Amino acid sequence: MPNHQRTIEALSAIVGPTACLTEPSDTQGYTTDYRKMYRGLAIAVVLPSTTDEVSQVVTWCHANGVKIVPQGGNTSLMGGSVPDGAGDAIILNLRRMARVLAIDTLNDTMTLQAGVTLSSARTSADQAERLFPLRIGSEGSCQIGGNIATNAGGTAVLRYGNMRDLVLGIEAVLPDGQIYSSLRGLRKDNTGYDLKQLFIGSEGTLGIITAAVLKLMPRPQAATAAFVAVRSPAAAVELLGLAKKMAGPTVTAFELVSSDAMNLVCEYLSNATPPLQGQPAWMVLVEFTSTGSQDLLESSMVQVLELGIENGLINDAAIASSLSDVQAFWRLREEISDAQTRAGGSIKCDVSVPLSSIANFIDEAYKAVKTMAPESRMVIYGHMGDGNVHFNPLRPAQQDAKEYLMAHYESISNTVDGLVHSLNGSISAEHGIGVAKRDDLLKYKSSVELGLMWQVKKALDPQNLLNPGKLLPSLA
Ligand code: FAD
Ligand code: MLT
Ligand code: ZN
Repeated sequence: MPNHQRTIEALSAIVGPTACLTEPSDTQGYTTDYRKMYRGLAIAVVLPSTTDEVSQVVTWCHANGVKIVPQGGNTSLMGGSVPDGAGDAIILNLRRMARVLAIDTLNDTMTLQAGVTLSSARTSADQAERLFPLRIGSEGSCQIGGNIATNAGGTAVLRYGNMRDLVLGIEAVLPDGQIYSSLRGLRKDNTGYDLKQLFIGSEGTLGIITAAVLKLMPRPQAATAAFVAVRSPAAAVELLGLAKKMAGPTVTAFELVSSDAMNLVCEYLSNATPPLQGQPAWMVLVEFTSTGSQDLLESSMVQVLELGIENGLINDAAIASSLSDVQAFWRLREEISDAQTRAGGSIKCDVSVPLSSIANFIDEAYKAVKTMAPESRMVIYGHMGDGNVHFNPLRPAQQDAKEYLMAHYESISNTVDGLVHSLNGSISAEHGIGVAKRDDLLKYKSSVELGLMWQVKKALDPQNLLNPGKLLPSLA
């Protein structure tokens, strides 16, 4: 193991001294996670500007046994993007690799460097009269490389799938510095193992993603949304069935919001008003989009809601009457995440179960939490259309956040995860594993699955230098 000064000199020589940060005042934003729950130390933050530089940095680290934490926008909610406190790793951040390389409107693809932010990728697609459909609240900071490394989800998965469904090709630097590339934009290619899939959702443990080819979609011309008070989570699932039957693929988003989640976000956004009178216990934000006419889309929304009322599923509804209403509805939904951070952090359970079990899951988990910590605020929201809810109990307003989390995090999180597992669900639907959920995998993945995951890791990274301590639990 080289001393840190030698590492800094060698890596500065590759990327240039101004792209190798070592002063604590410069590195702090990279060594601390978005929610300020995880604080680590790094030898240096290295900011390469080309794939070749990434390859040279990784080759040097491989030859000298230096650990690397790959980092994009550092918006991970699981502590996956920052090093631990040992101070023996570099952070390799891709933010200088932020060029859109090509847009092919005949092939409907976009090729870009991994450090392009999601919002820039969406803007570039829009300028080419196309849609890049991944949509998550952190889009201004998170990067395409990070979205691929976490297989990000978000609010348009119902219609377009998650990141895995949107990636056609990847370029990645392997842990020994070799460059793997499948940047070809093919929708069909049966020439053996689909190696790019290894990197999608690998959370920086198998390679540094440096570029990608992404699918583009037709750009919608019409959009409408409604906040709907539903009788119960079970009624919401029935309403989704009606919407899919009547409005087909125009159903783009179907997001559940509990009354506690809505109260919290309205408290946090001082100028926001709740969309429905009397704060209903359960709401859904339904969005339809299409390439057809606005009038047709709006009347389709009205028809679905009328039938929902007739069938006793809906108690009340507010339909957006303009694009700015649609945006205001989305702001309420998307700010729920930051509102919890501001309130001191909740017990984050990002879980999925089959859609047919989701109402049952919510009922059972709700009752269990109310027995364990009766005063908890039940911040429950998210991508119900995908069978994915963020089930995040939060401290009562009068209690100290640390005290609440210390007392209840482990027991509530274990109870919720146990219930999810008993319903054939997943303890991490979209946020990944990082360090936050790493050891829970020991309980919820079979020894065959964990053994295979480690075999893949050892085949690519036998020295365990890429994002060590993340995703993979130690096996006895
Ligand atoms: P980082 O946080 O920097 O890294 C995440 C992981 O990917 C780490 O393990 C890191 O090592 C690895 N990594 C990053 N870049 C690379 C690369 N180039 N090569 C290899 N590995 C890499 N997530 C959702 O799925 N759905 C949501 O709706 C959603 N909403 C969010 C809202 C807010 C307000 C916030 C703060 C987060 C949200 N997230 C959501 C979580 C997060 O934004 C996503 O996981 C995102 O994809 C992470 O991208 P990033 O560039 O910030 O990656
Ligand atoms: C969301 O859906 O808002 C995100 O996944 C972020 C979060 O739940 O904190
Ligand atoms: Zn989410």
